[in-house]
Amino acid sequence: MVRIMSFPEGFLWGAATAAHQVEGGNVNSDFWALEHQPGSMFVEPSGDACDHYRLFRQDIALLAELGLDSYRFSIEWARVEPAPGQYSAQALAHYREVLQACRDHGITPLVTLHHFSSPRWLTELGGWEDEETPARFAAYCAAVLGELGPLIPYACTINEANIGRLIRRMIADAGQGRNLHREAMLGLADDAATMDTAPTETGAARSQAPSGIFLFTFSDKGHHVITQAHTLARDAIKQASPATKVGITLALQDVQARPGGEQEAAEIWAGQFSDFLPALDGDDFIGVQNYSRILVGPDGMIPAADLGTELTQMGYEFYPQALENVLRRVAGQTTLPLFVTENGIATTDDTRRTEFIRLALEGVEQALADGIDVRGYFYWSALDNFEWMLGYRPTFGLIAVDRGTQRRTVKDSARYLGGIARRNAMP
Ligand code: BGC
Repeated sequence: MVRIMSFPEGFLWGAATAAHQVEGGNVNSDFWALEHQPGSMFVEPSGDACDHYRLFRQDIALLAELGLDSYRFSIEWARVEPAPGQYSAQALAHYREVLQACRDHGITPLVTLHHFSSPRWLTELGGWEDEETPARFAAYCAAVLGELGPLIPYACTINEANIGRLIRRMIADAGQGRNLHREAMLGLADDAATMDTAPTETGAARSQAPSGIFLFTFSDKGHHVITQAHTLARDAIKQASPATKVGITLALQDVQARPGGEQEAAEIWAGQFSDFLPALDGDDFIGVQNYSRILVGPDGMIPAADLGTELTQMGYEFYPQALENVLRRVAGQTTLPLFVTENGIATTDDTRRTEFIRLALEGVEQALADGIDVRGYFYWSALDNFEWMLGYRPTFGLIAVDRGTQRRTVKDSARYLGGIARRNAMP
């Protein structure tokens, strides 16, 4: 007998993007500067990306046509506040149009206020290790929500606020096991290999920024600045737009201990999740972002390549079951509602993407059946896009993008996810 797995009414079905990865021409951002530095670690610059700044209407219409009812995207701070304290009415008007396009297509927007890239000026002022940054970030959030709040039901303050912590752990593990996925994505592989195992205040993140510190700071000071930025931003958002639900998103690996790796596995989990819990007191939800698992043995993280299992284009293990494990673990430590704000696979074989989504959603359904409060699922990513230092080679998208013509082509996996979304159920 075929069991129909259905999802709660109002469950959000969406796909996600981030401004710098899809909009194109993000010239006032620190990432643009990094991409154009001599000897840049980026394999290519972002350039026009997917030209989504211009083509957002057709992209949103496409998501709606597929059957999705939600879209997670980010507003670019570098566009909204190109110089300290100077807000761009034009940029705010643009994002109003994006939000209006969502509304016109019956799409619920989940808006991220900061997705990795920052205004170049912020990074030059000391960025994510500067004590003024939380107030600066909160002021920007207040400006956005003051203007657009009624169109924003859900706001994520900072995307993967814990990424610096993860990097710190990887660097500490360098020479032992390595998490090549994150290192590759962030272009840290070479630095990590040559660094001392004990991370210090000055680390890989600092060495790459033109000057100052971008979001991937891994110092204790950086942790303090980021968590404070979140709490001040949450308060500012709530004040500007009381009806907007606010949360953060965290990169959460399914950390599994092999015999002898129990203590380190526990430390990794604490660093990526538990340490952030105090800052989330007062939030409305947590955005869970998961791509795979990490196995930890007596010698540290076990490289995915050593497992002999299927690897994705990013070099990490094909392991969609990780999502359910992470949802269960998070739900064991908080009663906040959860959204899966990112989950996905980079592959050229779209049948593997469909299978990844199927297995991941089976896990979400099992978690829901056990009473875990999951409110929505956002696949990463809507479009094949700019995968940071790795450029355009990894293809995470439900929709392919020909960057010569900017033509979009819907993949079968997109139709598969859209079909589930329409039925709010899967066989
Ligand atoms: C980030 C995305 C990135 C994705 C795939 C997440 O860590 O939020 O910006 O593209 O992972 O690596």
